[in-house]
Amino acid sequence: MTTVRQPEVEVLLDPDWAATSLVADVRRGLSQQPRTLPPKWLYDDRGSDLFDQITRLPAYYPTERERSILQAHAADIAELTGASMLVELGSGTSDKTRMLLDALWAGGTLETFVPVDVSEGTLRSAAELLSKTYPGLQVQGVVGDFTLHLGHLPRGGRRVVAFLGGTIGNLYVEERAAFLGALVDSLEPGDWLLLGTDLVKSSDRLIAAYDDPGRVTEAFIGNCLKVLNESLGADFDTDAFSYVPFWDPRMDRMDLRLRAEMPQRVSIPGADVVFDVACGEEIRVEISTKFRPDGIRRELADAGLAVRKLWTDPDGDFAVTLAERV
Ligand code: SAH
Ligand code: AVI
Repeated sequence: MTTVRQPEVEVLLDPDWAATSLVADVRRGLSQQPRTLPPKWLYDDRGSDLFDQITRLPAYYPTERERSILQAHAADIAELTGASMLVELGSGTSDKTRMLLDALWAGGTLETFVPVDVSEGTLRSAAELLSKTYPGLQVQGVVGDFTLHLGHLPRGGRRVVAFLGGTIGNLYVEERAAFLGALVDSLEPGDWLLLGTDLVKSSDRLIAAYDDPGRVTEAFIGNCLKVLNESLGADFDTDAFSYVPFWDPRMDRMDLRLRAEMPQRVSIPGADVVFDVACGEEIRVEISTKFRPDGIRRELADAGLAVRKLWTDPDGDFAVTLAERV
């Protein structure tokens, strides 16, 4: 019988990270027009739980579409890459990743799984569960920020870096290019990127996916104000904001905002910031960019990644791309 190996978890975020980095993001983002906040602050324990609920909403198709692609092609991915190490960025619960782990485990090449996430609680639970599910697999979790810590990821062996769920679409275009550049710098020739991207489709379906009648998505986006109230002592009147999701066809992205329904003076003592929000003013909390296959190929090629496979589900809703660092 193979013994269960205890997961290791390395914390790259220093204890002050949430305070210092959140303060910097708040000062920069809330002084812009429109005011913005980076979406990584949505994922405290409550936000991670709300996202998990979103993945089960009938209209939120990306999770099930990506799962179906992985189910159909995990064996191909295992055969093409022969990976000994699977790194997963923004891993969350790593639920769909089991398809990859199963295929790589069955192929006999996999030794190490490295989930990477800012959400420490979610990462630790996933690491525990996966260690038990795959006795003999070394699970080496990293609590880190994929926009900052790619250079610190474990090296060696044949690596596949999975970035699933369409999370790359939550980065702005210039952040995406910087992210891909840093990723390529951290990879060796012959390493792989497995990238999940949501595809452009009718605005009706997109809006339905981001505006559910049970208002789970609204609670998820609104959670950013609660995070600011709790972490920095802010006094946002969270009930005085309404959720405004819309499709921006010029940028091919969903734009998810909160609109003030009454004027407010907001003070954020932890960031030493006070500002006035006018009635009707909006805060952009998240974008979710949707892609076209040609654009995915172009962005990856520009970064130095050669696309070997691009799979979609039969309806062409979602894409999973396997690209090699050349
Ligand atoms: N990959 C999973 C989860 C997607 S939700 C899926 O496909 O379902 C996005 C995940 O990325 C969350 O778990 C969140 O905590 C994490 N995340 C967001 N920004 C991050 C960042 N800058 N660095 C590391 N993790 C991040
Ligand atoms: C994590 N990310 C890919 C999700 C998305 O669809 O952009 C986050 C999300 N926001 C609202 N619903 C889901």
